[in-house]
Amino acid sequence: KNVSVLNGPNLNLLGTREPAVYGAHTLADVEALCLQACARHGLVLQFRQSNHEGDLVDWLHEAGRLHAQGELAGVVLNAGAYTHTSVALLDAIKGTGVPLIELHISNVHAREAFRHHSYISAVARAVICGLGVAGYGLAIDAIAQW
Ligand code: DQA
Repeated sequence: KNVSVLNGPNLNLLGTREPAVYGAHTLADVEALCLQACARHGLVLQFRQSNHEGDLVDWLHEAGRLHAQGELAGVVLNAGAYTHTSVALLDAIKGTGVPLIELHISNVHAREAFRHHSYISAVARAVICGLGVAGYGLAIDAIAQW
């Protein structure tokens, strides 16, 4: 089965973006880590990043179709700042019923108040935040058990 790892805005800047908050790993490092995690479980990785909200909506719809066909185990979504703003992502997850783990590299609850609310959490099966990029591997380990 597939696992879809979807990354939202500014995550292409990982490695150089606020390293004190997000660490030194690049998005390519995160993809390599996800590939290793998928290999442990015999899962096929789809790894994507976009700075555009609609791309994330389209990819969630695609994941929903694959899940309905029994071909997708789950989604890991780091929606970046859209986490805190996007009713469209909430509706896409609700509308497709795709099982999903919300992920944040940083501990959003220890940061600015505007990061404390997430539109995704109410429709996510689980939330991982504050474990750095290691959270991606842990999310895939969890999805492998679903
Ligand atoms: C983030 C946290 C968000 O608040 C922020 O806008 C991001 C990254 C994280 O991975 O910690 O872009 O999702």
